[in-house]
Amino acid sequence: MSSEKSGYSGLQIGLHWTIAVLVLFQLLFGESMTTYVDAAADGRQLSSYDQTMGSAHYWVGLSILLLVFVRLAVRLFVGAPRAQPTMSKWMVFTSRATHALFYCLLVGAPLSGLLAFYVWGWMGDIHALAKPVFIVLICIHAGAALFHHFVLKDIVLRRMLVPARDPAG
Ligand code: HEM
Ligand code: HEM
Repeated sequence: MSSEKSGYSGLQIGLHWTIAVLVLFQLLFGESMTTYVDAAADGRQLSSYDQTMGSAHYWVGLSILLLVFVRLAVRLFVGAPRAQPTMSKWMVFTSRATHALFYCLLVGAPLSGLLAFYVWGWMGDIHALAKPVFIVLICIHAGAALFHHFVLKDIVLRRMLVPARDPAG
């Protein structure tokens, strides 16, 4: 999909952390949207908290979808850094698989949410599965990043914090 680079650009790093914070928000407060949808179906009055958080869920979810498309386009044109030479084959495979799964979820979760909201209510059950899958992936992913930093002592975490001088390196 892309050529191999020595680091991430400032834009890629900014997008990574912005999307991570927005996803965390969705995972922490997603239940408000369930309350919102259930109340609408039963004709119940919503608290102003659930109303605000329900619409925040909608707009934050759409922002994630938009930002992920920008991110994928940037990745296509700028590329991504190569794996560390010290990484074994299975580590490289797991890292690539985790990243690919993240991208599928980052597109699939908002799309299934939109379908549940506008077309098929039952899609809400499938959409809700995004939460446990995200949590497992985030644990593996963040755990791996910390392992690289504190045990392998390589540049993997640093390159997602500090822009490469020459991301085209
Ligand atoms: C990455 C983006 C998103 C994530 C991580 C996410 C996550 C969640 C979570 C954790 C819930 C609560 C599930 C539960 O009650 O256990 C939820 C519910 C819901 N979300 Fe999202 N969401 C995202 C984007 C969206 C978008 C863009 C929409 C569009 C309208 C949406 C619509 C809904 C609906 C309708 C529900 C209620 C489902 C039901 O209980 O029937 N979501 N979401
Ligand atoms: C919802 C939370 C997160 C999501 C969705 C996410 C997603 C991603 C994705 C898709 C990539 C691949 C980038 C690419 O090459 O195109 C990536 C890279 C990376 N992420 Fe995350 N991430 C999250 C949270 C975190 C956290 C909490 C950490 C640190 C503790 C972290 C550290 C890293 C690092 C170091 C890389 C670069 C890996 C490398 O260069 O091989 N991420 N992340």
